[in-house]
Amino acid sequence: MKVSAVVLVLGAFQAAAAAMVQATAPRTPTVGYYNDKCNGSVEGIVRDTVKAALNADITKGAALVRLFFHDCFVRGCDGSVLLDPTYANPYPEKTSGANIGLRGFDVIDAIKANLESACPSTVSCADILAFAARDASRYLSNGGIDYAVPAGRLDGVVSSATDAENNLPGSTFDVAKLISNFAAKGFTPEELVILSGAHSIGRAHCSSFRDRLSAPSGEINPYFRDNVLAKDCGAGPAADPTVENNIRDQNATALGNLTSYVVPASGGASLDNSYYINNLNNLVLFHSDWAIVGSNATMRHVHEYADNGTLWNLDFADALVKLSKLAMPPGSTGEIRKTCRATNY
Ligand code: HEM
Repeated sequence: MKVSAVVLVLGAFQAAAAAMVQATAPRTPTVGYYNDKCNGSVEGIVRDTVKAALNADITKGAALVRLFFHDCFVRGCDGSVLLDPTYANPYPEKTSGANIGLRGFDVIDAIKANLESACPSTVSCADILAFAARDASRYLSNGGIDYAVPAGRLDGVVSSATDAENNLPGSTFDVAKLISNFAAKGFTPEELVILSGAHSIGRAHCSSFRDRLSAPSGEINPYFRDNVLAKDCGAGPAADPTVENNIRDQNATALGNLTSYVVPASGGASLDNSYYINNLNNLVLFHSDWAIVGSNATMRHVHEYADNGTLWNLDFADALVKLSKLAMPPGSTGEIRKTCRATNY
């Protein structure tokens, strides 16, 4: 082979290799990262798409907040929760039992499609999740929860159901296990209490709280247990319907006298401090919810936030910002995915 041909082949090989190794080391997220990209339209595109999605189906807001939490607690905020199963990786995070009921992927797809048509390969799916959770929180709290989102994350290329099982908290956890699960990610018992307030919105499968149907009356209001939840969940584990997380969103007729405990929404919002008031009345779904009234380290904060909804709004915003800073494991590489459901190569 002539020298010029060798150079040509080598050049082509290098170009292909450069394209393959698009993955780079993650950077520290900063506020305003996209201001000088995509004509400054990135956060507006996310906000408008989230708003349209929630106008069509308000329940998608809860889905987006949970998606973000489940992304960040497993390998950091890297969009790994969004990856679909493939032949090479049949069990990504989303196939894990810990991710039961995870939804809102369609909203993320819609945001990504809008961003790709405005500015291709510019915005990571990990950043989309962070913006979307903020926008959903603001929408569901009527503006009470709002904050600047640091951005510039990259999308991870690793996603494993086992990592999800090992890192996400379980609904049967007691308070010590919850505290240590959150401590492993750098969160205090107070922040555990603050973030748990997200259960003022959304829904859950009966299998996620079936243990509560036989919990003692000291741990759950017996009318709520026997005449509301047990009836909602039907006879046996074969059927696994969903129930609203917040007693406020339950069918009022089924609630009977319990309606006297229902905390009215503050200013039309649904993401609010009602979770803490419900919890003090033994009217929450999961054992893990109830468990946080079982230790001094957490109980005093349950009282604090039951008494002060404005403080909770502010502290919840701060906790979400902290959550958004959870980074990929050291040594990881990342990329800007073309589609949020698959890695680029
Ligand atoms: C403290 C430990 C936590 C446990 C044990 C837990 C567990 C659960 C479970 C079992 C479900 C229902 C899943 C289903 O059956 O479909 C759920 C729903 C939900 N969780 Fe948590 N969670 C925790 C913390 C959090 C945090 C920190 C957030 C957000 C900041 C969050 C946000 C949500 C939301 C919004 C839903 C409803 C989702 C929807 O409607 O699609 N959770 N959680």
